[in-house]
Amino acid sequence: MPYTQYHPVYLDLNDRQVLIVGGGSIALEKLNSLLPASGARITVISPEAREEIRSWHREGKLVWESRTFHPDDIEPAYMVIAATDDPDLNEWVYRCGNDRQRLTNSVDDPANCNFIMAALTRQGPMQVAVSSAGCSPALAQRVRNRIVSEILTEDLGELAEFLGDRRAEVKRRLPGYKVRQAFWERVLDSEIPGLLTRDKAEADAAFQRMLDRAVEHAPGDFSFTPAKVYIVGAGPGDPELITLRGLRALQRADVVLYDRLVHPDLLKHAPAKAEQIYVGKEVGHQGRGRQRSINDLLVSHARAGRTVVRLKGGDPFVFGRGGEEILALNEAGIEFEVIPGVSSAIAGPAAANIPVTHRGVSTAFAVFAGHEAEGRDEVPWDAAARMPTAVFLMGVERLATIAERLVSAGRSPETPVAVVSKATHADQVVAMGTLNNIVRRAEGIVSPAVIVVGEVVRVRETLDATVRSTLTPALAHK
Ligand SMILES: C[S@@+](CC[C@H](N)C(=O)[O-])C[C@H]1O[C@@H](n2cnc3c(N)ncnc32)[C@H](O)[C@@H]1O
Repeated sequence: MPYTQYHPVYLDLNDRQVLIVGGGSIALEKLNSLLPASGARITVISPEAREEIRSWHREGKLVWESRTFHPDDIEPAYMVIAATDDPDLNEWVYRCGNDRQRLTNSVDDPANCNFIMAALTRQGPMQVAVSSAGCSPALAQRVRNRIVSEILTEDLGELAEFLGDRRAEVKRRLPGYKVRQAFWERVLDSEIPGLLTRDKAEADAAFQRMLDRAVEHAPGDFSFTPAKVYIVGAGPGDPELITLRGLRALQRADVVLYDRLVHPDLLKHAPAKAEQIYVGKEVGHQGRGRQRSINDLLVSHARAGRTVVRLKGGDPFVFGRGGEEILALNEAGIEFEVIPGVSSAIAGPAAANIPVTHRGVSTAFAVFAGHEAEGRDEVPWDAAARMPTAVFLMGVERLATIAERLVSAGRSPETPVAVVSKATHADQVVAMGTLNNIVRRAEGIVSPAVIVVGEVVRVRETLDATVRSTLTPALAHK
């Protein structure tokens, strides 16, 4: 469908004349969005009108004239809305309005509009209007709803008012547009937005301290705000499985250090100017040396005044060396925040419809590192064999050893096992078996994979096959 590229503007309708032709449900819908906040002086022209419109007329909130439309009605109007259920009449109203250069909209008829109404959402002074240029109002509504639930949260309205109240003072005390812009960016990255949701007086004090420091350093050095490192769990793979807080940290990063298991689509959420540094296993030193150089990078970027996001697969504290990173940051005196992630230890089995606990089947689960750390086997096999559900990460290469050791430690060879490879990705694969045959059944399965051992695996087996294939993408049943 050919569409018009509209130019978005926000109109001040305060004390402006708005003419609405029509008095039924379509007119009512428009009035519901115009009446509460616009401040417009509204005239409704229609022989009949809904009770709500009549009562607003009685209360003096609008003027209703019970008669048919006449082209002269356009004269005093700044904006005209044709909202009858008669397409010919709407088109005529549009032509009258458009000929006289009035902003004119004929409801649900983009061809007869010289402006359209956007799907709107507000939080205090913050407003977001979404338009699909008339292609799909339903899609525009969807996008609007997503903005409401994910972005334009209640606290943003309050934050906008707080910043608005201080704008004049900042303009007076901080010279130069660029300097002020950098200052506002720092304020938004600081603890002030978070403080404001808890304690306005403290937020105000923090703001004043920051402004005083900025005035002292202006117009040059803006490193007066200590930088912060966010240790963020990226989730098991599917980029939608990061947390909202993790996503927000990523959106304001100056530098992102990421691992091999982080989905590349997640990096698109970082600002275009953010530096992206791959620090996966293949890079530089191995083991402790590699971890030390990652710690050094975190510290040096933070010291340069940058907001650093350390993006790690799954949860940072589940075999993720997140603990070592926060110790290094603490030692260097750098502020940090850990944002947990959805661990593959739980989400991997879940993606194959295997609950790690299940009433009457398993009341406990434990997660083990299946690989050998620095040549040592560190799995407490007796404990693993007794666990109702035992989950092994980093274990595909040692699947045969894991199965043997569990059986030697007393676990029945008939215990069900599932191996979930590339969980939550489009090419996820699940192999099913028991301790005595899983090695053969999982042949060819590749890392990353989680191994689940225990009766809970049978929950998946009891699911209807059609349910399984719709819930989990690209399953290969072995
Ligand atoms: C170094 S550990 C990191 C675990 C991560 N911190 C977490 O909470 O998921 C890497 C192991 O996690 C598991 N893993 C991570 N992502 C996975 C995925 N999408 N599918 C299956 N296993 C995954 C594999 O066992 C892999 O060898």
